[in-house]
Formats: sequence, C-alpha cells, structure tokens
Amino acid sequence: MGQNSESVTHVVSENNSGDEVFELLAKQSGICRAALIDITWFTESMAAGKPLEIENRHRLQVNRTADRSATDIPVSQYACQRRTTLNNRNNLFTNALKILAENAEFCENEGRNLAFARASSILKSLPYRVTKMDDLQGIPSLGEHSKKVIKEILEDGNCGEVEKLIQNERYQTLKRFTSIFGVGVKTADKWYREGLRTLHELKASKIKLTKEQEAGLLYYEDLIVPVTMAEADSIRKIVEEAVHRFLPAAVVKLTGGFRRGKESGHDVDLLITHQDEGKEQGLLHQVINWMAVQGMILYDDITDNRDQKWKTKEPELFDHFAKCYLIFKLQKDMVNVVDLNTSGDHDSLAVNEAKEMGLGGQAGTCEHAGCASVKDKDWKAIRVDLVVAPFSQYAYALLGWTGSRLFERDLRRYAKHFKHMSLSSHSLFDNEQKRFLMAATEEEIFAHLGLDYIPPQERNA
Ligand code: UTP
Ligand code: MN
Repeated sequence: MGQNSESVTHVVSENNSGDEVFELLAKQSGICRAALIDITWFTESMAAGKPLEIENRHRLQVNRTADRSATDIPVSQYACQRRTTLNNRNNLFTNALKILAENAEFCENEGRNLAFARASSILKSLPYRVTKMDDLQGIPSLGEHSKKVIKEILEDGNCGEVEKLIQNERYQTLKRFTSIFGVGVKTADKWYREGLRTLHELKASKIKLTKEQEAGLLYYEDLIVPVTMAEADSIRKIVEEAVHRFLPAAVVKLTGGFRRGKESGHDVDLLITHQDEGKEQGLLHQVINWMAVQGMILYDDITDNRDQKWKTKEPELFDHFAKCYLIFKLQKDMVNVVDLNTSGDHDSLAVNEAKEMGLGGQAGTCEHAGCASVKDKDWKAIRVDLVVAPFSQYAYALLGWTGSRLFERDLRRYAKHFKHMSLSSHSLFDNEQKRFLMAATEEEIFAHLGLDYIPPQERNA
C-alpha cells in the first residue's frame, strides 16, 4: 500500500482499529478518501465472487474524527513535513501559479515569488484533485491572491491574469532571455530595457556577453531540450569512468531532480566523494582536464572551494564545495538506443513552453558553423553540475543537492525555527549545544531534526 493514489478505493484491514488504519494512511499520504473496511467485506466478497456493496457493518469505526474531510488532517506549512510525489493532481492550478511566481521573480519581488511557489507546492502535495473551494479549507500557505486564481480556474477553466501575462511582452522576453545559460533576471531586464526582444536581436547587437552567456547562446537549441533520464545516466557513467582513472574507489552519485524520480530535467547534477577524506582534493581539475582532452567539454567553469563567488548570489543555496558548471558534449551513440527515440519526440513541458512562446524558433539563426545542422549532428550539448564533497559532509551534500529547492528551503527554515539548528549542504549546527551534528546518511539528518524520513521521490515540493 506504498502509493495510495486516487485509484485506491478500498482499504481492507484485519485486526487494526479504524483509528490505527486512518492514522497510518494519514501518515503516508496526508489525506485518504478510500473506504476503510473490515476483512469481513473481503471474505464475503470472495464468497460471492464479486465485490459487494459496502454496508455500515463492514466499515471500520473511526472515532477520532467524525467526518473524514480534507479539513481534518492538518497539512504542514513546511514542505519537509509533507510527502510530495510527482503525481500532481492539481496541474491546472500549479501551472498557473508557477507562471505568476515566475513573473514575480522577473519583477524581483521575492516575497510574492515565494508566496506563489508555496501555494503551488502545497497543491502538489494534496492526494486529491481540488474540485471546489471547500477542498481548500484548513490548507495553509494559500494567500488571498492564490485562492482567487484557483477560484477563477474552477469557475472559468482559466485565470485571466495568467492568460494576460502569457501574452505580455516583458514576461515573454524575460522568459526567453533567462532561458539562456548564464543570464539572470537582472541581465535579462537590462537587455529588455535597452529594447532587445529576441535572441536574433541580441546576437545582432554589440552587447558584451560573458563567456558563459556566449556558450549559452551557442548551444541554446540543445540546452532548451530537456535532458532525459537515459542521457543523465550515460553522463553519470562517463564521468564515473573519468573519476575512476584518478580515484578508483570514488563514488559518483546522480542527484537533483533525477534522484527524485523525474524523467527529465534541465541539467545533470552529479555528486562525487571518496571514503578516505582528503583523497578527493584536486580530483575535479584532473577529471575536467582529462575530459577536455577527450573532447567531451564544450564549456567549463570550475569554482574552487576557496572562491568566494557564491557569496554574491542566493546565500541559502550556495555552498563552498569544489564544483564545476559545465556544458558536456554527449555523443548520441553513448545513449541507450531505445531512449534516444523518446528524446527525439520530446513533448516535455519545457520544450512545449519554449515552442508556445516562440523561443526555439528564435535560436534558429545560429551562426556557429557546427550548429547549422542541429538535427543531423551526432552529439548533444548538456548542462552538467559536478560537485565534490568531503566524505564527512557527504550526507549533507546529498540532501542539499537532491532538492527540490522549496524542500531544501523549508528543511532549513524548520531546523532554525523548531530546533535552533543551522542546516546547510555541509553540516548541521546545534546553536544551543554549540556543536556540529555528524551524519553518515540522510536518515540520520532527518532524525537529528526530529522529522519523519522523507525519501527523495517524495521531496518533489
Ligand atoms: P537544480 O537547479 O538542478 O534543480 O538543482 P532540479 O531539482 O535538479 O531540477 P531540474 O530538473 O534540473 O530543473 C538541484 C538541487 O541542487 C541544489 C538545490 O537545492 C536544488 O534543489 N543546488 C543547486 C545547490 O545547492 N546549489 C546550486 O548552486 C545549485
Ligand atoms: Mn538538476
């Protein structure tokens, strides 16, 4: 009974009280709308050769709550206390809220961005589809604005504000520009204010680009195509092979969205460690140099752990690990043939979005020689993040790099608020005992925080 989805209609129990079963279900999924029934229904149905109508005498008595509606089981306002699988029953609402969150980001309104992101996240965690406003009673993190959006979608099938936004020139342009590797909101907004609208105009302009942005533009067409699980797996194996040349016992772990079970993503996040702490030092340079000689690297930016670059960006997200942001050149024949076919007719959200907004089309005029026949070339450019963690920090690094971003954010918020602890991708510090808490596994970190363990597949907040 691991996945109790909407499709579960009957939960049969032998020997457990209604309250016990109810408690168990609540723990697993938050809310359950299936009928809780006694084993007698099952045996009688077997005897009859068909599922019988459920009579009152079959039902388990739940005393704790008279009416099992959505309002009875509290949903935590902390993503790290919710189980959020990829089975999102409220897409219609979360897609709209995502666009509003994105636009708030484009307006550099962090509070508003977070409010919409939280509203969207809480809807993703609900084990039922919202069909009426009453379904939202007692659900936290839903502001008036988000509720208004949901109400409109329930009534009209869409939300006027969102529909208008999708047509908005500034929104479209910032979305287009920020989809270039190396371009953030500030830069995109600057270009917009200078009158630029399309990638073609950007390329034709005399605007000075960073090395990162130049690479981002050069490989744009490839980079907006979602990375498949098969591609991520191939890259993990290739990197592992390279790493093992220098450190045969090192571990190369696929993290990020793929570890949470996503079938596609915007990049490949790999975490590297070695059991003998200290051995990992200098590894990243060796590996990158070797891969470069092999012609596997289109762009790389090594951030030494002494480098303080991270300080200027979102402080919450940035760590001091030695890491490398790179654009990897993946030979298509290195990827499992079966999966290559599926990556050919990608109909993923990101690409659809790009198509709808005319993003892909803009990049068609690629001046790069090797870019002219994008469809025929035998390789694909893919964004890869390599992170090297010392073994004693590995569990924290793994937890930090698995995401989702909101899940991480709420873990840290929870630690600070309820435990007076500071959590990062390096460590957990107890501010009262004034000491670091060691952990060899993610399970131990959750235990330090007094939280039920949430596996990666349920961290899709
Ligand atoms: P990503 O941005 O790659 O997100 O960061 P994702 O969940 O894998 O989604 P897609 O599919 O690639 O779009 C992965 C996690 O790594 C952490 C964040 O917590 C994020 O959840 N991260 C990322 C950092 O800690 N630091 C960074 O510089 C980047
Ligand atoms: Mn990722």
